[in-house]
Amino acid sequence: MPAAAPTRISTLSEGEGLVYGCDYNPEQWDRSVWPEDIRLMREAGIGLVAINIFGWSTINPGEGRWDFSGLDEIIELLHAAGIRINLGTGTASPPPWLTAQHPEILPQGPDGTVFHQGGRQGYCPSNPVFRAHAAEVVRQVVARYGSHPAVALWHVSNELGCHNALCYCAASTLAFRDWARERYADDIDALNRAWGTSFWSQRYGSFDEVQVPAQVLSLRNPGQVLDFQRFSSDEQLALYRAEAGIIRAGSGIPVTTNFMVTAHIRTLDYWSWTADMDLIANDHYLDGRLANSRQELSFAADLTRGLAAGDPWLLMETSTSAVNWQPHNFAKEPGELQRNVASHLARGADGICFFQWRASTQGAEKYHSALLPHAGTDSDVWRESVELGRMLQGLGEIAGTRVAADAAVLFSWENWWAVENEGRPSEDLRYLDQVHAAHTALADAGIVADLVRPGADLDGYRLIVVPALHLVRDAEAAVIARAVERGATVLVTFYSGIVDEEDRVRTGGYPGAFRELLGIRSEEFAPLAPGERVSLSDGTDASVWTERLRTDGAEAVALFADGPSVGRPAVTRHAHGAGEAWYLATQPSPDAYRALVARLAESAGIAPQPGAGPDVDIVRRFGEHAAYRFVINHGSAPVDIAAEGSELLTGVTVTGALTVPAGAVRIIKEDV
Ligand code: GAL
Repeated sequence: MPAAAPTRISTLSEGEGLVYGCDYNPEQWDRSVWPEDIRLMREAGIGLVAINIFGWSTINPGEGRWDFSGLDEIIELLHAAGIRINLGTGTASPPPWLTAQHPEILPQGPDGTVFHQGGRQGYCPSNPVFRAHAAEVVRQVVARYGSHPAVALWHVSNELGCHNALCYCAASTLAFRDWARERYADDIDALNRAWGTSFWSQRYGSFDEVQVPAQVLSLRNPGQVLDFQRFSSDEQLALYRAEAGIIRAGSGIPVTTNFMVTAHIRTLDYWSWTADMDLIANDHYLDGRLANSRQELSFAADLTRGLAAGDPWLLMETSTSAVNWQPHNFAKEPGELQRNVASHLARGADGICFFQWRASTQGAEKYHSALLPHAGTDSDVWRESVELGRMLQGLGEIAGTRVAADAAVLFSWENWWAVENEGRPSEDLRYLDQVHAAHTALADAGIVADLVRPGADLDGYRLIVVPALHLVRDAEAAVIARAVERGATVLVTFYSGIVDEEDRVRTGGYPGAFRELLGIRSEEFAPLAPGERVSLSDGTDASVWTERLRTDGAEAVALFADGPSVGRPAVTRHAHGAGEAWYLATQPSPDAYRALVARLAESAGIAPQPGAGPDVDIVRRFGEHAAYRFVINHGSAPVDIAAEGSELLTGVTVTGALTVPAGAVRIIKEDV
């Protein structure tokens, strides 16, 4: 049963205010270290500690054997210190005794490779033996600590699906058949129609013939792959629900799990998870492999707020400095941690927690940063940890305030799967690239956007961006059209509206679902070669995509001046109802994209945040009596911001203007 009302995050920390927390793995340390850990946690101002995340082999060292002595002790130590607990159910990684007894629980890759014990999350999500043992662990933990006064939050498993979301073993195959039977109401012809199995002689005679889309000689069936991704997300959600159900039967404490709203994990459709979460929590790490990792952070934070439906959310994990799982693990520059934290807070986080408390000396993550590094307390990282605690404490009044956005960007994991399915027109069609480009253009133009799911209510948004929404249901397209009819401006970008829920192309000209709304008709895609650029009649240039488009009621705002679609419209505008529907048939350069959304925002009556730009991030949170304007200067030069109010980090009164030094964060409290 989902909770009736969202949990106020501030109730997770002592008193009101923002949460400062961390993962703590005391089982990695001798008990003599624990009192020092607690003392230093208090020194840093830590208020919420996640424990028992990887506790299974410690609390349940053999079939039917339970040892809670360590967990009992650490819980009492934390409780006595007034530190609240984010209690892991402990099921994140099955212990070796379980996989030795039941090797059938090990997950399998698409080529039949079995993934062995020795890493983490080494289980098939559909395996009934795993599920039964995990449920027993949760029952034991809930029975013991379900009403402990120090426990503030339940933390189900850990990053469900991080490694094992797609499993191709025999148990997964049986579960996939059951899932398909339910989806297609036991009608194999309905499945055949949905997957288009007449193609390449793939018609199934019964559900018992249906397979998971394991490795094949050619391209796979895209309908089958799409449904397998839906199934795999649902299986992870089922794991969460099973644990949450046991918890709710025995404890009144709120339940969550840590999402992975991030660039490199795309296997879970979190829109379908939110109703089961008492509060939304996310893990986010800067990804040094990306061209613009800080913009990705802003995007992930906005999307997490979208999942929370605008309510405050919790950053459950991030790093003080480097991680250890990227090819090159970059230490944060001075000030970067504060800017990262401010970006999460500005976009609605009411708590910031770190992985992890004390840097491990053994195990695969021994070179991952922590609040307390290998160097100990005589280190810049530790001093920053203490400083951050002070900063969060001083910002308590922003807890519970909300971001207000006039613009929305549509985002869907299901569409991510559909866009990047096999056999697409160009490998350079990467969904997240398109969404990030739109989000960055808006942010750089000083426009804060909410991320919303297709089909969600769009009332209240004056500008709506629909990037590469390839798969769209009729009802979802109708919501967008209605928003334009009532006066909104919408920007639809290429490869949108092409297929229906079953990945079937809408015929009669692209973009099928949006042809009428946009007043255009496209006959053929004409993607560009890697690195190729085309010129537009407005003097800008573009990449990735062109198409053979003609207007059918719309006005051409810019044409392709060269390239495979020379002379055809590249940007169009169509008056529809009281609003306007724009189409972008290519990927503009960042500057041109920013100029385009700025123009659309202006005509939609949205005032940008003055002073915002590619180096300067500005977002406001609104409370009942005050607004809090976060100004994050990522650049190497100071910036002057027109402002009135008081600055919370420095305590200065601002009259007329505030200079924000290079690399600095300022939070201006303003009257509303
Ligand atoms: C997360 C995970 C943590 C730790 C961290 C390292 O994915 O939940 O257990 O591995 O990454 O960055």
